[in-house]
Amino acid sequence: MKISASFLAEKKIEKAIYKLDHTDADYIHVDVVDGKFVDGKKIPLRKLKKIYKLTSKRLDVHLMVKKPKKYIKKFVTMNAERIIIHLELKKDLEKNLELIHKFGIKNGLAINPNTDISYLEPYLDKIDSILVMSVMPGYGGQKFIENTTTRLIEIKKMLLQHPNIEIMVDGGINEDTIEFVKIADIVVSGSYITKSKNYQDQIDKLRQKKKNRDHLDIPKRMES
Ligand code: DX5
Ligand code: ZN
Repeated sequence: MKISASFLAEKKIEKAIYKLDHTDADYIHVDVVDGKFVDGKKIPLRKLKKIYKLTSKRLDVHLMVKKPKKYIKKFVTMNAERIIIHLELKKDLEKNLELIHKFGIKNGLAINPNTDISYLEPYLDKIDSILVMSVMPGYGGQKFIENTTTRLIEIKKMLLQHPNIEIMVDGGINEDTIEFVKIADIVVSGSYITKSKNYQDQIDKLRQKKKNRDHLDIPKRMES
């Protein structure tokens, strides 16, 4: 399971990215909100455009915007591993998915918690990733929506003929809720990491390294 770290909940973005860069997170997750597709935390584009200069990690770009085309064109030069647009846009989805591929970047569709997963079906031949939202998009620090687990299982079944599509999950992931999303290939986690002093400790906990080490501890009674 890979971890993509989101800094959406942070005020001091540069500092958060510097700290994330010094962890073993696999990607930096860039949330882009235009205030039209969803209401949410808008980080100015001029700031977002600098992120790739602050880290050697590849970015996954989550576009929560009504008109993705202009954003896709901006992010293709910014060390993006994948660019994800929202299924709920309906309009020009195929065109924009193709546009991302034209630039040699993986594409993906994000699906909101209340969108029927069957709407993904027509696109399965055209996408590399599905980002399953486990909160309503817009803000960091929200509570994990529990029926996400059932949705993930259903999506996994839907992908039997498309085993290469990566399943991602985004929103409210912490050391407890990660138990419910183990089926995902990539887990996005934001405030759980960035609201703590030691980012790497939190990432270790998500990867359950700490727990595993605890299991290996010699029980006190056997130590002497
Ligand atoms: C929500 C964003 C998420 C969010 C994750 O709109 O897409 O990426 O920042 O942050 P946490 O882990 O705090 O929910
Ligand atoms: Zn996101």
